[in-house]
Amino acid sequence: MTESDAPRPPELEFSKKYTLEHSQQYADKHEATLARKLSDWREQSIARSSLALAGNPKKVLDLPCGTGRFWSLLAQQPNREIFAADNSEHMLEVARQVRAPEVVERVKSFQTSAFDIDLPDEAVDCIFCMRLLHHIGSAEHRAAMLKEFHRVTSDTVCISLWVDGNKQARRRLKLEQKRKAAGIKTKHQNRFVIPRRQIEYEFSQAGFQVQGYFDFFKYFSMWRIYVLKKQ
Ligand SMILES: C[S@@+](CC[C@H](N)C(=O)[O-])C[C@H]1O[C@@H](n2cnc3c(N)ncnc32)[C@H](O)[C@@H]1O
Repeated sequence: MTESDAPRPPELEFSKKYTLEHSQQYADKHEATLARKLSDWREQSIARSSLALAGNPKKVLDLPCGTGRFWSLLAQQPNREIFAADNSEHMLEVARQVRAPEVVERVKSFQTSAFDIDLPDEAVDCIFCMRLLHHIGSAEHRAAMLKEFHRVTSDTVCISLWVDGNKQARRRLKLEQKRKAAGIKTKHQNRFVIPRRQIEYEFSQAGFQVQGYFDFFKYFSMWRIYVLKKQ
């Protein structure tokens, strides 16, 4: 197969919104109010637990790293080698500006797509993937991304998404049904709740076993981080 025959990685509609202005707003967002700060604190706390369950991996790829919200957490382990990548050059640029210089120094950051990662096979021990999967509504696209993760990690993946079986998901479903009944069309739906049974099946189809998971706020919040082990 020549390079031009190779299938192109999917380009998702939501990926286009990370302009420089949006990236700067994203960096400020998690610090903007007390509620956001508490939410960020809780997310960092379950992310730390997920890394511990993954065996405190030495080589980690933070993908998508966005504005480097998790870089300080990842850098807490002194011998850790940190790779960080994002589809948006603007997010990377803001990350390098707003994070502490001694942390930025530890991170090898580069632009790449989660569907076509610019790293060799088994390049890292763990892929740390926060807040991307809930943007991917198509099972085919999720399978493509998980296949790429299976290629690049040698051991584990920590991955967050929105799942069903909680109050927020039920509320969201009701709202979507109401909108449908009223004939209101959303221009581009770009965030999705994925049923737990379905995503766990997709993980196993991609060659991963669920090692455990951490809920942001059990029975209430949609956010969950899964720790997956490569089979
Ligand atoms: C909601 S942000 C999450 C960033 C970070 N993980 C966090 O939690 O702060 C989503 C990120 O996904 C990135 N992104 C969108 N499409 C992508 C793709 N195909 N491959 C890699 N990153 C992508 C965006 O540029 C953006 O930085």
